[in-house]
Amino acid sequence: MTWSQIYNSDVISFNTFGTTTIVLNSREAATELMEKRSRIYSSRPPAPMLRELMGWDWTLVFQSYGSKWQERRKLFVKEFNVSQPDRHRPQEMKAVTTLLENLSHTPDDFLAHLRYMAGAIIMEVAYGIEILPRGDPYIETASRALDGVLHATVHGAFWVDYLPVLQYIPDWFPGASFKRKAKIWKEYTVEMLNKPYQEVMSHLASGNIIPCFVYNCLQNINNKKDIAYQETVIQEVAGNLYLAGTDTTVAALSSFFLAMVQNPEVQRKAQEDLDRVVGSGRLPNHDDQSNLPYVTAIMYEVLRTQPVVPLVVPHYTTEDDYYNGYFIPKNSVVIANVWAIDHDEERYPDPNTFNPSRWLTPNGSMIKSHRRDIMVNFGFGRRICPGMHMGLSSVWLTIASVLSTFDISEKIGENGKIVGVTGEYKPSSHNHPTPFECSIKVRPAKYEKLIHSLSTPE
Ligand code: HEM
Repeated sequence: MTWSQIYNSDVISFNTFGTTTIVLNSREAATELMEKRSRIYSSRPPAPMLRELMGWDWTLVFQSYGSKWQERRKLFVKEFNVSQPDRHRPQEMKAVTTLLENLSHTPDDFLAHLRYMAGAIIMEVAYGIEILPRGDPYIETASRALDGVLHATVHGAFWVDYLPVLQYIPDWFPGASFKRKAKIWKEYTVEMLNKPYQEVMSHLASGNIIPCFVYNCLQNINNKKDIAYQETVIQEVAGNLYLAGTDTTVAALSSFFLAMVQNPEVQRKAQEDLDRVVGSGRLPNHDDQSNLPYVTAIMYEVLRTQPVVPLVVPHYTTEDDYYNGYFIPKNSVVIANVWAIDHDEERYPDPNTFNPSRWLTPNGSMIKSHRRDIMVNFGFGRRICPGMHMGLSSVWLTIASVLSTFDISEKIGENGKIVGVTGEYKPSSHNHPTPFECSIKVRPAKYEKLIHSLSTPE
């Protein structure tokens, strides 16, 4: 973003070992190239560290544009279709209710509770697996595998991505620590892909049917085609859900908690709306969303001020192209700088201020045209996030439910002094705040009863 300002251009490029990287710093440039010309801007760069060495070549997220990717994406989109917005709501409601109960018992562990909640939704939607409250083996394996991905997807983190020949040096060679790391991460990757899928298969073999993404897809297998191949595709697509859907949700919600500590007046206003619309006898649900525009605006402002994937996932050109007099060669890495787009002063005056009202009309209703503005956080063109509806739905429900039942504020330490928050973020391809402490207290006692009554079976 700074380079774009220095050179006074929304399109900048640099060259590393012969690879051209183009960074698009405006919504106009990103929309023109990645959406309107998405036929040639929809591949992914070769990533030897991730795909060859760490074994992620089966993932939708990192796959090159082509028939293999198209086939997997089609299967994914069928399950997460916008025309069935309520499809995964039961799993979301269940996981959010557990989150509220966990927060009421051990509020200091809120980051772990958020991770558990996001994992619980995904494992149930994908495999019908109910995860253990602590130390779940599936979640632990998947988190370790994902940890490797987050390291490897920081643009420029590993030299082997610029000099693919390095992948062939032996593991013991000086400077080959990336190969040793990749080997360990690969074991987690393979386990993450196989273990939960095998559990579904063994349930099915014993006649125990739990509806979920894998089961739904297996039901639709075409017996006239190669069955083993179709099963492999289903297994691979299911593996994408945890990879793409958990950490993104956790990043958005961690930023939400931080924003509430930093903006108490915003929190109070949302709670007034929630109390008026929902009352105190029940928790909010998705049907309340249209009556709670300020809560939706808080979600939008969280995603805008701290975009979850600030540089999106890099795209890759498959043909030469020209844009505004610039030549863009085939095989260029193209990055949409969503951070810059979300902090564009013309579109968002005073862009660093957390101001949910910017998404609303003076009488407090949502400005409809803004929906497209927030969508840039989910990427562009043919690669746009296919899980965005579920992502928005679970993030909204969590924000509304947490604000209904808890007050989030700065923590008072044992010495009676305020434990401040730095507001710093970790360097990673996903944008997480550095771990911080805050006070999370149940609002009036009646809410405490409500939380427990919802999660305790009668
Ligand atoms: C707040 C939540 C989320 C955010 C901000 C987010 C953001 C993104 C972004 C920026 C991309 C890259 C798009 C591009 O390359 O242009 C992406 C891709 C993807 N996301 Fe999400 N995502 C979220 C939640 C989810 C969820 C819940 C799922 C699954 C249920 C999911 C599944 C995927 C998949 C499979 C891809 C790869 C698509 C492809 O390469 O064709 N995401 N997401």
